[in-house]
Amino acid sequence: MHITVLCLFPEIIEAVTQCGVIGRAREEDLLDLRCLNPRDFASDAHRTVDDRPYGGGPGMVMMYEPLAKAHAAARQDNPDARTVALSPQGVPFTQQQARESAQADALILVAGRYEGIDERFLQQHADAEWSIGDYVISGGELAAAVVIDAIMRLRPGVLGCAESVQQESFDEGLLDCPHYTRPEETDGLKTPEVLLSGNHGKIDRWRHQEALIRTWLRRPDLLEKAPLSEEDQAVLDEYRNANPGKHGHGDDD
Ligand SMILES: C[S@@+](CC[C@H](N)C(=O)[O-])C[C@H]1O[C@@H](n2cnc3c(N)ncnc32)[C@H](O)[C@@H]1O
Repeated sequence: MHITVLCLFPEIIEAVTQCGVIGRAREEDLLDLRCLNPRDFASDAHRTVDDRPYGGGPGMVMMYEPLAKAHAAARQDNPDARTVALSPQGVPFTQQQARESAQADALILVAGRYEGIDERFLQQHADAEWSIGDYVISGGELAAAVVIDAIMRLRPGVLGCAESVQQESFDEGLLDCPHYTRPEETDGLKTPEVLLSGNHGKIDRWRHQEALIRTWLRRPDLLEKAPLSEEDQAVLDEYRNANPGKHGHGDDD
């Protein structure tokens, strides 16, 4: 997959995409990652990329022209690539978007800085704006790195075990089940018996039930869209009846 990031601090993207799964994907040419710095497309001797906001107020705004030129250079190599700007005002970036984006061969990400990007660039060149959460960070580079990681690990060949992406949070609309590893008992805390039973049918059922209950407790909003079977509903009803004091929304009161 070809991903181009337009950003003022390529070193941030470089630093966080050199290790782990994504670092390996780069080494194995599963990810062709390139950063284009709008500064290299500025037209003045000072390589200016930002200016004061019209109407006054604090901070600076990223200028249209250097970004538009960097974007044109990115499009030259990947004319069909979707362009997505990172912004706290964007739609929340979800696993579903990661899945859809992992089907594409190319993507252009635009990272803002300062007060943000001149609105006309977004109107003219961005196909979408994505937010990584309801908080503001200093620049879009880290947000771009998050998006790259979430997308790339869904591409064939990137994760050692392809099954890992089928049994994790947001697959089938649920959170993941709890996990345990050796030793069987630590600090007086035991591993659930079923996981030691060797009965894979039972283990799969237990994991699915735990995922259901955990989702209800922590993210009941996900259950509204999850495709629940009658059996799933029965599991949840049984849990609620047995634990009348427990409520969703992550609260145990
Ligand atoms: C300091 S922020 C600008 C915030 C903007 N003035 C606002 O209040 O909406 C600078 C850049 O960081 C990136 N950024 C900040 N928070 C983000 C978030 N939650 N998701 C995605 N990108 C974010 C965006 O690229 C943004 O242009």
